Amino acid sequence: MKNSPLPRLDKNHELRERLLPYCRLKPSEIWLDPRLGHKVACIDAADSHAVSQLTAGERASLAIQDPPYNVAAFSVRDPSEFIAWSRKWVANTISSLSNNSSLYVWLGADQTNHFQPLAEFILMMRSFPVRSRSLITMRNQRGYGTQKNWMAVRQELLYYTVGVPQFNVEAEYTDIPKILRGYYKEVGGRRQENLERSNSDFIRAGNVWVDIQQVFYRMDENVSGCYAQKPLKAIERIVRASSGVDDLVLDFFAHAGTTLLACERLRRRCFTTEVDPVFCEITIRRLEHFRTTGRIGWQNHHPFEKECPDLKGITEEEDADTIPQSPAQGALL
Ligand SMILES: C[S@@+](CC[C@H](N)C(=O)[O-])C[C@H]1O[C@@H](n2cnc3c(N)ncnc32)[C@H](O)[C@@H]1O
Repeated sequence: MKNSPLPRLDKNHELRERLLPYCRLKPSEIWLDPRLGHKVACIDAADSHAVSQLTAGERASLAIQDPPYNVAAFSVRDPSEFIAWSRKWVANTISSLSNNSSLYVWLGADQTNHFQPLAEFILMMRSFPVRSRSLITMRNQRGYGTQKNWMAVRQELLYYTVGVPQFNVEAEYTDIPKILRGYYKEVGGRRQENLERSNSDFIRAGNVWVDIQQVFYRMDENVSGCYAQKPLKAIERIVRASSGVDDLVLDFFAHAGTTLLACERLRRRCFTTEVDPVFCEITIRRLEHFRTTGRIGWQNHHPFEKECPDLKGITEEEDADTIPQSPAQGALL
C-alpha cells in the first residue's frame, strides 16, 4: 500500500456506516482505561454536565485544546457562532483545571476572511480568569521536494495560565544546534562569547517552532482517516513543559488521540473527549496499538484493518502530497 488507505472519516458516509458497529463508544459513553486510568468520552465538549461527569471532581494541571478551526478544512460557521460555542468549552475547561495550571489552544486564522476566528477568540479569552503567556506559531514543516503546491504553513498556539503553574524549561530545547556567535561579555576579566557561556549547545523552541515535521502518510505516526492530526512531537513538548509525571491532562478534541498517546508515553493520565464515535474508537485503538506493538501510528496501514481488510471501492487513491493533512495547510491556500 503506497498511500493513506482510508479517506477522511468524517466525510465518507458509506465507510462510516461500515465502521460504526466496531466503535465501542456511543454518544454519552465513557471508556475507562483499565491499566492507567485514562478516560475517553464520546461527548460534546460544550456540554458542561457531560464534562463534569467525565472529570468527576478531579482537576487537571494542563489542558491542550485543538478544536475545529472554523476554516475550510472543517465545517465553517459564522465567527460569532463559533465564539459562542467556544465560550462554553473554554468555561468547561477552566472549571476542570487546578489552581495552578496551563491551557494551550491551537487555532488557525482564515486569511480570506479577516483572520477569523483567531482575532475573535483572543478577545473572548479576556473575559476568563486566565493570564496570557505566549502566542506560539508552529511552522508546518513538510518533506523537501514537494514543488507542486504552495501552502500556508503556520498554525497558532495560544498559551494561558491559571495561578503559577510549573514550566519545565528543559522541555523547550530543540535538536537545532546553536550556530550564531555574536555578542560578548567580560566575565572575570576575560572576554567570553555567547556560545561559551550558554547552558546548552541547542536552541530553545521559543515562540516560533520550526523543528516539527507535519504528519503525512509516510510517517510512522500517521493515522489514516484523520485529517487534522497534530504531530506527537508538538504535543509532547507541551506535556513535558507544563505538567509533571502522574498529573492529569485534558484534551476535549481527541481526533487521532495524540494527547492521550503523549500522556501514555510520558506517564501522565489523560481525560479526553471527542464528539464522533469513530474518532473515539481510533483514539482508544491508537493507545492499544502502542501498548501491543510500540508503534505510534499505522503509517501505510489503518486502525480498522482487522474488520475491514478490503476497502476497494471506498478508498480514494489520491496522491497524499495534495491531500490537506492539517487545517492550516488545507484551508488557507
Ligand atoms: C482539529 S481535530 C483535533 C486533532 C487532535 N489534536 C489530534 O492530534 O488528532 C478536532 C476534533 O474535534 C472533534 N469535535 C468537533 N466538535 C466537537 C465537540 N463539540 N466536542 C468534542 N469534539 C468535537 C472533531 O470530530 C475532530 O475530531
